[in-house]
Amino acid sequence: MQPKHPSESRTMMTDMVLPSETNPINNLFGGELLARMDRAGSIAARRHSRRITVTASVNHVAFNQAVPLGSVLTVDAKVSRAFRTSMEVYIDVWMEDRFSGERSKANEAIYTFVAVDENGKPTEVPPLAPETDQEKERYDGALRRKQLSLVLAGKMKADEATELKALFTASAPLPQK
Ligand SMILES: CC(C)(COP(=O)(O)OP(=O)(O)OC[C@H]1O[C@@H](n2cnc3c(N)ncnc32)[C@H](O)[C@@H]1OP(=O)(O)O)[C@@H](O)C(=O)NCCC(=O)NCCS
Repeated sequence: MQPKHPSESRTMMTDMVLPSETNPINNLFGGELLARMDRAGSIAARRHSRRITVTASVNHVAFNQAVPLGSVLTVDAKVSRAFRTSMEVYIDVWMEDRFSGERSKANEAIYTFVAVDENGKPTEVPPLAPETDQEKERYDGALRRKQLSLVLAGKMKADEATELKALFTASAPLPQK
């Protein structure tokens, strides 16, 4: 299969935070943000694979900043690495200042989607060819994150997670993620 670039899967969704989507202190409900990221990520994975995609795991999500009622949020999703049938999708969430229009990072998350056929059986996806420095950095860390996710899900033995183990050797540089 021909490799694809991350820009080909890029999916941006902008929407406002409405009262029905907030918690009792008028900030965006966490589950609503997860759903928005899941939708954008799923579309990005579909654009890359041109297949039905299902969410396999959600990793590295932290709610560091509250998102108040009325905020304008942009969810920006791109495939960061494709394996055999699974794709890591990196999702950045930006909040727009009401007065200046300036955007600040509100959240980020990493989802894994799997391409499946009509019977739900995993099916192969094209490889990814990263272009920018950030895309290359995210691509390089993706195998380690995949192994961590599989170990936590009980689908891989810790001693088979070669990339993860390499982190704990004395000479390994600290990873970004
Ligand atoms: C995701 C799913 C298709 C994986 O099926 P499976 O029988 O485990 O298939 P495999 O073992 O062949 O795994 C398929 C791929 O998923 C990856 N994968 C599976 N679980 C994973 C996890 N927890 N984290 C990261 N990757 C995972 C595997 O590593 C493999 O990737 P690769 O082919 O690129 O190497 C299956 O578990 C499923 O359908 N789950 C339900 C999905 C769903 O309904 N999501 C919405 C939830 S609300």
